[in-house]
Amino acid sequence: MTETVFEELKRYVGWGPEDEAALRALHAPASPRFPAVADLFYDTILGHPDARRSLAGGEAAVGHLKVTLRQWLDSLLTGPWDEEYYQARCRIGRKHVQIDLPQHYMFGAMNVVRRALNQIVDDTWPSRPAELAAARRAVGRILDIELAIMLHSYREDLLAAQARRERLATFGQLVASIGHDLRNPLGVIETSLFILRTRAGEDQRSRRHLDRIGEQVGIANGIIGNLLDLIRERPLARDPVRLAEVVEQAARALDPAPARLEREGLSELPEVPGDAGKLRQVFVNLLQNAVQASGPEGRVWVRGGLGEDRVEVSVEDSGPGVDEETRRRLFEPLITTKERGVGLGLALVKHIVEHHGGSVGYAHREGGGARFTVSLPR
Ligand code: HEM
Repeated sequence: MTETVFEELKRYVGWGPEDEAALRALHAPASPRFPAVADLFYDTILGHPDARRSLAGGEAAVGHLKVTLRQWLDSLLTGPWDEEYYQARCRIGRKHVQIDLPQHYMFGAMNVVRRALNQIVDDTWPSRPAELAAARRAVGRILDIELAIMLHSYREDLLAAQARRERLATFGQLVASIGHDLRNPLGVIETSLFILRTRAGEDQRSRRHLDRIGEQVGIANGIIGNLLDLIRERPLARDPVRLAEVVEQAARALDPAPARLEREGLSELPEVPGDAGKLRQVFVNLLQNAVQASGPEGRVWVRGGLGEDRVEVSVEDSGPGVDEETRRRLFEPLITTKERGVGLGLALVKHIVEHHGGSVGYAHREGGGARFTVSLPR
């Protein structure tokens, strides 16, 4: 039978039944001190300005995280250290990857836990060197395994991103050639339409049908344009752009118009260097999704905010939000939850925003719904 990753990690650190027994023996003296370890753990993170920024929700979220860390410590010392344990640890690792937590913080964070547990070991068995040594060894081994699992999640993510990039490169080549090939027949249809329109005279039915053909050719051209925009790296204009104006223009272009669109804090935002036309496209796409997701009675909010060196605009809606599965691939092309969507809107948003040196992210909105936040350098 082939060895699992977890079994291999255990073998690598020399894990054995004596470590399991030592950790279980440590649990009783250590558990009353878990709250203090969790306090120390998050105080250390909050004391570091860059690491602190990774704590979305700020100090308010820390209360909940301390509870999860206490549970983590509890299972760390009680096991069972089986495949289920490993999978649960991988899920935690993926959470950190999902929030873009830089992996180098893991070393420092794990050392805080290591020092705290070693202190408890030293306090518990000051005059029993055999127990002390066994407990220290077991703590060292399990924390080495934990760190390796955390880093393994980052590696998995890197490999998935690489596979995605390769898929997108193939997709890009395909799109470029199909896009160009489709432009020609569509051009011929447009020319013929023009001629037919002059011949249709007053025949209303024929004119209606010709209009419909024209409309559909326009939609097909739009899709091809979006696809080609996704793969081309055209230089961007770098003009001073007022995002409040860009959002207004985007809102005016929406069809259907949103029932309730509320704006907040946009007019106070400073100008950002960028391409107004492209940024308008970003907000047309985000607003269109928000309007569609929230339905005819729904609400959409656009909010502006300032970071240290960034300008942020979030688009929120009162719709159902995005489920976990879709969320992971939300900004990839051809991912759509809409019956008639092609799945290019958000991919284009990401492409344009990143081309501006910015980022776009998704979070669930408090009280339900979706929140997309575009962050651009000032
Ligand atoms: C020894 C290292 C660490 C351990 C053992 C650990 C443990 C955990 C656990 C158990 C969770 C809950 C996961 C879940 O909800 O299923 C979590 C989530 C989280 N951790 Fe850590 N963590 C570590 C390092 C860090 C560091 C260094 C930071 C920040 C600088 C951090 C920030 C967060 C945040 C923001 C979440 C919430 C993610 C979300 O639910 O969106 N963690 N961590």
